[in-house]
Amino acid sequence: MSDREEHVVAVLGAGTMGHGIAQVCARAGFETRLADVDVPAAAAGRAKLEQSLARLVEKKKLSADDASATLARVRAVDADAACAGATIVIEAAPEKMELKVDLLRRASKGADPRALFASNTSSLSITELGQRLGAPERTLGTHFFNPPPVMELLELVRGVGTSDESIERALAFAAALGKTPIVIRDFPGFATSRLGVCIGAEAIRMLEQGVGKVADIDRAMELGYRHPMGPLKLSDLVGLDVRLAILEHLHRELGEVFRPPVLLRQMVRAGRLGKKSGHGFYRWTDAGPEPSDV
Ligand code: CAA
Repeated sequence: MSDREEHVVAVLGAGTMGHGIAQVCARAGFETRLADVDVPAAAAGRAKLEQSLARLVEKKKLSADDASATLARVRAVDADAACAGATIVIEAAPEKMELKVDLLRRASKGADPRALFASNTSSLSITELGQRLGAPERTLGTHFFNPPPVMELLELVRGVGTSDESIERALAFAAALGKTPIVIRDFPGFATSRLGVCIGAEAIRMLEQGVGKVADIDRAMELGYRHPMGPLKLSDLVGLDVRLAILEHLHRELGEVFRPPVLLRQMVRAGRLGKKSGHGFYRWTDAGPEPSDV
């Protein structure tokens, strides 16, 4: 018999990342509860998860039985029901500290007394989150990558107060999910976002300066550096609002090099958020992404 810790997982936020994280947890065999601002929003996330599983069945990457068993482990509920007795709470809400503190504070009321409080934040301070939650030793970052079912890395972020025991439990959780973890010290932007947004922001500035068209700038990194997708397409995949929030935070914390490009602000103001809104630097249709120069 396996001695792995049998988690009950609450995922708070059923958007781009949240439903993918829930898919990974349920696929690993854990009971998974998915919540959002209300139950219909959580149910919409679960429906996307169902579609994602159906695509895997279609491609013969997953049996129909495994897909149904995975789906059966996921319940779309309200946040209180999601957190009741949960042993790990993963918040995947927008990049706003107040919102994350609020969500995890509420979660801590009903969760298991030993529960880990994990944030999927791309850049915000885990140390501050743990301190304000009143459980610094059990608070950490579990930073997943989009699309969560595909991407191998799990960046674990250790706050100043995070205990060794919590990191050990998180490492075991990562292994159960089939992810390869790295443990990173809490510092704005961690190891991944800090580097990732630099390339993305520079690509947007190059577009502003007329260095090349969307397709050419992306092709430069796809063919010249073997990146699986260029920086503008990747920004669309992540969400331009998410990228802007990360850059604004890193600009405040680390300085000028992270100043958000004006064009990025304009696109977010125009509602061109990337793949999730159907239009960013590309138009996203069923036929695939088409460059859309600005
Ligand atoms: N669930 C399960 N599997 C999925 C999936 C999903 N939701 N989406 C795609 N896949 C699988 C496909 O089944 C396919 O599997 P095979 O190779 O075994 O056939 C594989 O992923 C590739 O998918 P596609 O063939 O449809 O597309 P692709 O080859 O163009 O790859 C991609 C798509 C995986 C997204 C690839 O382009 C890629 O790796 N891009 C870079 C992604 C990246 O850098 N992500 C990190 C963003 S930063 C972030 O997320 C953190 C942050 O803080 C903002």
